[in-house]
Amino acid sequence: MDYKKYIKIVDNWPKEGIQFKDITPLMDNGKAFKAAVDEIVEFAREKDIDLVVGPEARGFIIGCPVSYALESGFAPVRKEGKLPREVIKVDYGLEYGENVLTIHKDAVKPGQRVLITDDLLATGGTIEATIKLVEELGGVVVGCAFLIELSYLNGLEKLDGYDVLTLMKY
Ligand code: PRP
Repeated sequence: MDYKKYIKIVDNWPKEGIQFKDITPLMDNGKAFKAAVDEIVEFAREKDIDLVVGPEARGFIIGCPVSYALESGFAPVRKEGKLPREVIKVDYGLEYGENVLTIHKDAVKPGQRVLITDDLLATGGTIEATIKLVEELGGVVVGCAFLIELSYLNGLEKLDGYDVLTLMKY
């Protein structure tokens, strides 16, 4: 499917110089959204996934329907101060800012096979931080799936050795 026709590019948002890739038109189209989720499910199907992990907030939008289809669990990675129980945390750089990501300490059990999902791979800071959290808890990252990769930001370099699926490249 030509997913790109469902992505709206918004210039200078949220900051001057950023070309924001808005995935909401894709989510708004039932057939396109289902096709995208189904492709990620197919990618994950043979991997024997125990748990899908997705970073706030758009990683949830992709990860939850995938986890439903795989009948796996889903664990949220959230910005600092959002999760109510004991967490581990990691600092990370972002395409447009700095941040801290956290996960509940008991969200991933040692040895669990984890698929990480997000809408977008830009600099790779978010996925790198998410992988760090999962691996620190003993999870095994068996795949990373994104709707969009911004190839010019070289995020893929941070994913050397991991099995990566991206449905669109810019
Ligand atoms: C965006 C996007 C990815 C991340 C990619 O999230 O959804 O998670 O940036 O950038 P990176 O590869 O350079 O780390 P954002 O932090 O804007 O959060 P949101 O989904 O809550 O809007």
